[in-house]
Amino acid sequence: MLRTQLCDLLRIDVPIIQAAVAPFTSAELVAAVSNAGGLGSFATALRPAEDVRRQLARIKELTDHPFAVNFTLTTFDEESFQIALDAKPRVISLALGDPGALVERAHQAGSLVVHQVHTARQAREAAARGVDAIIAQGTEAGGFTLALIPQVVDAVRPIPVIAAGGIFDGRGLAAAVVLGAQGANIGTRFLASAEASCGDTWKQAILTLESEDAVKVDVWTDIFPSPPPGAYATSPRAMRTPFIDEWQQRREDAHREAERLQDEVMGAARAGRLLEYVPFTGQTAGAIHEILPAAEIVRRLATEAEAALTQGAGAAV
Ligand SMILES: Cc1cc2nc3c(=O)[nH]c(=O)nc-3n(C[C@H](O)[C@H](O)[C@H](O)COP(=O)(O)O)c2cc1C
Repeated sequence: MLRTQLCDLLRIDVPIIQAAVAPFTSAELVAAVSNAGGLGSFATALRPAEDVRRQLARIKELTDHPFAVNFTLTTFDEESFQIALDAKPRVISLALGDPGALVERAHQAGSLVVHQVHTARQAREAAARGVDAIIAQGTEAGGFTLALIPQVVDAVRPIPVIAAGGIFDGRGLAAAVVLGAQGANIGTRFLASAEASCGDTWKQAILTLESEDAVKVDVWTDIFPSPPPGAYATSPRAMRTPFIDEWQQRREDAHREAERLQDEVMGAARAGRLLEYVPFTGQTAGAIHEILPAAEIVRRLATEAEAALTQGAGAAV
């Protein structure tokens, strides 16, 4: 079984992290991945604090294995953060901004901090904050880039780096390891799992997509023009909807009507109707052809990665 030092750090068997895919990380998904030897991540974004409390209690009923509780800095909620610290998860994972003082608070509560970045500069800054591992996400995501991973690995050595974006099978995990990463953070593949709570329509839609159907939603930065201080500038990738098609063509109007559109999108997300607006999905959708139980995804990723590493070594003549 493929193991890296990240496994020892996180106390997991295989270096596979089920990425936080808010708000669809059911307790069942997180526990299934952790019970299968990977690290399940529970995404707190878009959930009320009381729900976070309930779901964390449910995860603890379903698994004794380590798991992560994830926060995005753009939707950060203090009450939920305190609830997460009290639950003492093995990992607090953070994304979309400068982790700042949250690192120290998580460490004091006994959790490790895994932080997601998009550039080598952000990685160096996060390393200086004292994070324990770094997820480097390229632009294919909901995006693993060949260029980014080795740069981040070199920038923050000896802090372990986890590759994210564009990984859907063991070949991607093997490639990440060859580039110097110690594991993979995988989102869209787990969104199309039996346990993810995004609903059958979304899962079935992923099965029909080609990679080019998961488009960069640049208008996102017009609709959300004022991110909180320290936030990272990113635009998400999503499958096309009439909403995206319309507003991508009308970016100036979107900027002008930002407040109304924010309310519309966030309201829909909280009401479980994100699929009609901005269904975040990575380019790996083009390679996902069946909905599998999360444990089976973990098992296949680990077995295929080993085979790919052996095959890669054998390809050299
Ligand atoms: C629907 C969806 C929701 C996401 N929500 C979050 C989130 O709440 N927190 C976070 O750190 N990342 C979030 N991400 C990014 C993932 O954690 C992960 O980095 C990304 O999906 C990896 O790329 P992949 O989808 O190509 O595997 C989300 C991604 C998707 C597709």
